[in-house]
Amino acid sequence: MTVDTTVTVRVPAKVNLQLAVGPRREDGFHDLVNVFHAVSLFDEVTVKRASPCRQSPSEGVGRDDPPGEPEESAFAGMSVGGDLGSHLSRVPLDSSNLAARAVNLLAERTGRGFPVTVHLDKDIPVAGGMAGGSADAAAALLACDRLWGCDLPAGVLTEYAADLGSDVPFALLGATAVGRGRGEILRPLPSPGRFRWVFALSPRGLSTAEVFAEYDRVRPDAPEPRLDDALVDALAEGDPVALGAALTNDLQDAALSLLPELGRTLRTGTDEGALGALVSGSGPTCAFLVGGDDDEATERETAVVAALESSGSCERVVRAWGDVPGATVL
Ligand code: C5P
Repeated sequence: MTVDTTVTVRVPAKVNLQLAVGPRREDGFHDLVNVFHAVSLFDEVTVKRASPCRQSPSEGVGRDDPPGEPEESAFAGMSVGGDLGSHLSRVPLDSSNLAARAVNLLAERTGRGFPVTVHLDKDIPVAGGMAGGSADAAAALLACDRLWGCDLPAGVLTEYAADLGSDVPFALLGATAVGRGRGEILRPLPSPGRFRWVFALSPRGLSTAEVFAEYDRVRPDAPEPRLDDALVDALAEGDPVALGAALTNDLQDAALSLLPELGRTLRTGTDEGALGALVSGSGPTCAFLVGGDDDEATERETAVVAALESSGSCERVVRAWGDVPGATVL
């Protein structure tokens, strides 16, 4: 019998089509209505048995120990690669990385697993509001589940994902979905259309926690979040014009307050005819909806990309489309 020593999982970025943020809860989080949309910017996460191989996967580190007490950390090291330039230096390579925490969490909860190294091949902006760190954690969770032969039901993996972070469950699910609670309670939303996007990456990163704190400062009177029916209809009809008009992000003012130059980036895209423009999640990546699957969308996309590239207001411009499936074993 051959035992796999490597598993690679491909996982998408997300953009938020609606991010409605309620008041701060007692636990410090905010109740959200968060419409996630997975787009075709992918990270590939490879987990590999760390050498020397001391145990077989079926034996596993800590198999005879009670769950929660592995003999040693299952996470044995991390490397990162990809074409993201200065963004890559923002990725922590130690056990504080959310993907490393995913490896250790799965080992602790299941009592299975042998030490692995993790390689991140990144295309998703880092600290950009596109859930790249959450995506890597979801991918590491799924990859270790397969490599260690746990084969947990999807519901259990999703529960573990939610313990890692509010956006991690969606990276497993993919496509388009509304997240409630912290964003982790998911319901898929029908979205049969194909939407084309342009993303403007910032040379700076923003901390999600800081953007939420700024939101509390600028919106102390935040109402309970509600799902926008016009957005749901636009998705169900695959109508890019209606979708562009319905895009909203309650965190946008907070992100702009921390990084005012994002205002110019957003204006550059809307002046070129983008159907909708918004800060993605907690930012600072700016997202521009340029259309559906038609020639007009191609023209609009070309114009928006050219204007952003010559504006000098962003570090890099990328194209993508949505929606796409969630984390997938390759
Ligand atoms: O869940 P996650 O670790 O991604 O959240 C990062 C930070 O974002 C939290 O520590 C919190 O400050 C903020 N957050 C929030 N409300 C949410 C999700 C995140 O305040 N629903």
